[in-house]
Amino acid sequence: GERCSPAAALLAWYDRQRRDLPWRAKPGETADPYLVWLSEIMLQQTTVTAVKPYFDAFRRRWPDVAALAAAPVEAVMQQWAGLGYYARARNLHACAKAVVVWYGGQFPATEAELRQLPGIGPYTAGAVAAIAFGRQAVAVDGNVERVIARLYAIDTPLPAAKPLIAAHARSLLDPERPGDFAQAMMDLGATICTPRRPLCGLCPLNTFCLAAARLSPEDWPRKAAK
Ligand code: ADE
Ligand code: SF4
Repeated sequence: GERCSPAAALLAWYDRQRRDLPWRAKPGETADPYLVWLSEIMLQQTTVTAVKPYFDAFRRRWPDVAALAAAPVEAVMQQWAGLGYYARARNLHACAKAVVVWYGGQFPATEAELRQLPGIGPYTAGAVAAIAFGRQAVAVDGNVERVIARLYAIDTPLPAAKPLIAAHARSLLDPERPGDFAQAMMDLGATICTPRRPLCGLCPLNTFCLAAARLSPEDWPRKAAK
């Protein structure tokens, strides 16, 4: 049944609740790696609501990675204005150029190759590999760290717990649907397993969750003593 594993329960919830976001492929469609990458860079340190109009403007102006690479960097910086963390825009342009020069305009599919590109760290490499290419990869951002730390009641504080949390995330991963698994974890962290007052009564992972069993989910993730 759908509730026999955490991943199955999570994906069943995602299939019912998934947010329709402009960079998400509809069920059965394949994701465009360029749009997945563009959205993941924008979504670092920025909310979905703030990102949406920028994402639409970029994709309209530069519909593929070759178009973005051919643009003057000043035009990219100007289009990014207002989104903040401007190193992201500079790296965005550098990454587009690298994809064109190194890979002929096709994003590489593996985490290891993606990691070599400008502005792509472990989170973004995992997200693009899983969402755009269906690779066995996880994308662990702050939201996902919180979900995993609570699920397993991990008492090691952040940031020391990061490797353990990443290992737990990999062990949870559904090998059939890594992209949906990544985005379901993000959605769960953003909408249900929130930093304050998580909605455990609505959570598909409730029956698996050690923090919920202890009735104090807000006690995780542990923070190192100051
Ligand atoms: N935050 C970062 N990546 C995201 C995604 N693909 N969907 C929703 N929120 C996100
Ligand atoms: Fe988070 Fe509560 Fe779900 Fe546990 S049951 S993962 S604490 S929302």
